Amino acid sequence: MELIDQTTVLTGVGFCPPALREHIIKGHPETGKKWLADLPALLKSAEKIWQLSLGACFPDASFNFVAPVTRADGSQAVLKCGLPTLALCNEIAALRHFNGQGAVKLLQADEEQGLFLLDKVEPGTLLETHTDPDYATRLAVELMQRLHKPLNTPGSFQTLADLFKGFDDLYQRFDGKTGPFPSVLIDHAQGISRELLDSQSAPVLLHGDLHYANILLSKANGAIAIDPKGFIGEPEYETPLPRLTPELTKKVLRRRLDVLIEMSGFDRERIIAWLFAKATLAAWWSFEDTGEISLPFLECAERVLEIGI
Ligand SMILES: Nc1ncnc2c1ncn2[C@@H]1O[C@H](COP(=O)(O)OP(=O)(O)O)[C@@H](O)[C@H]1O
Ligand SMILES: [Mg+2]
Repeated sequence: MELIDQTTVLTGVGFCPPALREHIIKGHPETGKKWLADLPALLKSAEKIWQLSLGACFPDASFNFVAPVTRADGSQAVLKCGLPTLALCNEIAALRHFNGQGAVKLLQADEEQGLFLLDKVEPGTLLETHTDPDYATRLAVELMQRLHKPLNTPGSFQTLADLFKGFDDLYQRFDGKTGPFPSVLIDHAQGISRELLDSQSAPVLLHGDLHYANILLSKANGAIAIDPKGFIGEPEYETPLPRLTPELTKKVLRRRLDVLIEMSGFDRERIIAWLFAKATLAAWWSFEDTGEISLPFLECAERVLEIGI
């Protein structure tokens, strides 16, 4: 049995919350445990090399170690540290491409070690907690307009077509069928995603995972995106979907989409189709991650289809 002082552990600098540890081990069965064992030394060396003083990990960090830091000049920043995968390198490359326009500014990066330093967004309130949904929608549209710029060189970024190969993985996993998922739903979502992929407008570099919990409020710069994945595709794909809550009735969702369409000029049918395809794909990813069906994603797909009718 491990003897640990819970008080020190739960507030300790470099402490990795249990849910995050679990996620890392599940997500990287071969390498996750060793990475976690090496994490304290890695954080210490980052503190030394980049002259930082590390704070406690953000409680809502879910895939990577993310913590506030104080730099040598007294300014505040955020250190993000994860397994040095292609996904993490693409996050760094996307932040470089956005160059502080709409996305948080990248200050330093070491791709080999999986470490990077970001501007700290203050106060950093999640946009999804904003009490005025119309205002939150408007901020999200403005943010997309700042983010979406043509990409001159594709680099190592994947495309939306790569992303939606997720449906092929699903069929493969269940021997050509859809396992616990309704086949009508998956067939429909895959069919719609193919039509959308084949008829996209001019591609840009997308954030790739823009939802209201990846948008933070900044005193100085309005809404700022964090945690980009960096995919190439048409801007309409990016439309963020509000988290499903009992208050998010069909009427409220329709109103939020109306505001978004009016401001963005996006095509209503394409947005609804992308949202449906994305929510269904997210349900599959969540199953891949946890081995369980995620009802919120499936309900979301259903509700989006309903308002599209
Ligand atoms: N630049 C930042 N400024 C302020 N808070 C941040 C910043 N980056 C991340 N955070 C906080 O850390 C949390 C996790 O960050 P995120 O990049 O989404 O990590 P993960 O890859 O684990 O999802 C965010 O929800 C937010 O609370
Ligand atoms: Mg995140």
